[in-house]
Amino acid sequence: MVHLGPKKPPSRKGSMADVPRDLLEQISQLETLFTVDTQKLNTIVDHFIKELEKGLSKEGGSIPMIPTWVMTMPDGKEKGTYLALDMGGTNLRVCEVELLGNRDFDITQSKYHMPPEMKTGSSEQLWDYIADCLQAFLQSHHPNEAGEELSLGFTFSYPCSQTAIHNGVLQRWTKGFDIDNVEGHDVQPMLEAALKRKNVPITVTALINDTTGTMVASNYTDPETQMGVIFGTGCNAAYFDVVKNIPKLEGLVDLDPETPMAINCEWGAFDNEHVVLPRTKYDVQIDEDSPRPNQQAFEKMIAGLYLGELHRLVMLDLHEQGFIFENQNVEGLKKPYSIDASLLSQIEEDPFENLTEVEDLFMSRFNIHTTEPERKLLRRLAELIGTRSARLSAAGVAAICKKMGIEKCHVGADGSVFNKYPHFQERGAQALADIFGWNDIPPAHYPIKVQPAEDGSGVGAALIAALTLKRMKEGLPVGMKPEIIEKLSLEHK
Ligand code: GLC
Repeated sequence: MVHLGPKKPPSRKGSMADVPRDLLEQISQLETLFTVDTQKLNTIVDHFIKELEKGLSKEGGSIPMIPTWVMTMPDGKEKGTYLALDMGGTNLRVCEVELLGNRDFDITQSKYHMPPEMKTGSSEQLWDYIADCLQAFLQSHHPNEAGEELSLGFTFSYPCSQTAIHNGVLQRWTKGFDIDNVEGHDVQPMLEAALKRKNVPITVTALINDTTGTMVASNYTDPETQMGVIFGTGCNAAYFDVVKNIPKLEGLVDLDPETPMAINCEWGAFDNEHVVLPRTKYDVQIDEDSPRPNQQAFEKMIAGLYLGELHRLVMLDLHEQGFIFENQNVEGLKKPYSIDASLLSQIEEDPFENLTEVEDLFMSRFNIHTTEPERKLLRRLAELIGTRSARLSAAGVAAICKKMGIEKCHVGADGSVFNKYPHFQERGAQALADIFGWNDIPPAHYPIKVQPAEDGSGVGAALIAALTLKRMKEGLPVGMKPEIIEKLSLEHK
């Protein structure tokens, strides 16, 4: 099992002794803007719990709280070979997963680059491309096998309403995607039609969110896992609820009220009404300039896609006000999304007191010369943005635990921000300690541990395909009542 490990040294604040007064004042204002103290965190958690409940109610709320029809955790004995397809933001990954029946697995996988233009291209282009990748995978791994239909777990990590495990109507694109004619449609028939056109013998057995896959995969190797979270390009969580706690399913299912149900929260949409999150003018600007304004309010303050952009907007603002990069050409900084979270990581990781690596970075990337006090400001800004992201993320985890009365558990976490952003894990753990008041407990013994997950979109997707086929064989439901599925699918045609 993986723990957070020995505590890394805290982010080095460095001395601010040589920073002139006007910049110190700017730093102090940024600290006020971007700091989420414990009291605020607790207010956010309280509101979050109410919004989670609202999402499960008949009336619904901002947080979609989607029943995924994953109704069992693996028992570790699952066996067989399954295909998994992960449509992430930058790559497409196809995996063949062999479940070995002893909480272990073998995986063979290929990655295919997804051209960035595809994010805003046409729907046909997208599905054809995915079908081509699946075909290429089968040709290279099973060149001589003829036509037996294979089961696919398709990880499609965008908010989809599901009437059954294998389908999903895309509610809206997130993470900067904007492809016409997909929103409001079921994605499964679109992929299957492309597979048919190209004679690829694959059936979509399960449509999965990355968070659900992460939870199930992590639970397979560590049964103490009760939640899956992604802190990457986007951010989101899945957990297990119980049918009787989901009023919006009333009348739609033939299930015992005690049946567990994995919920894909889509918590990126938390506080779309802007009631509680401490948004800055930079967050407002990111939202207004995004392809989907007024959506994903929480995600836009936390996720990897937006962290670099926030840093860029603050820098430009301070430059325009005459505080930094005086008399320098800042053209290189003007392109939206030209800075990604890895630049912030590099700024935070500069080991030198005078931040010479940041100087080199800004010279080579933007042809901007930075003074030492400016670099100290840039570094403090990166720390503030990274810390805010980690603390708000922890508020989401705490809200789910409190709602479910969970006092002790493991949370499987994945995504580039969680895995790569310096100090993200420690800062998140500290925020959980602040929220729950674990003052006297050493970090290694915190009762709720957010820790690196198993591969949700590969192993998780395969496991969910296996669990689904098993339920189907046993005649157990894998969705709403058949007549309701029929009715709702006609409505979406
Ligand atoms: C976005 C998507 C969600 C996904 C998350 C992490 O929030 O809407 O489905 O789980 O990103 O990838």
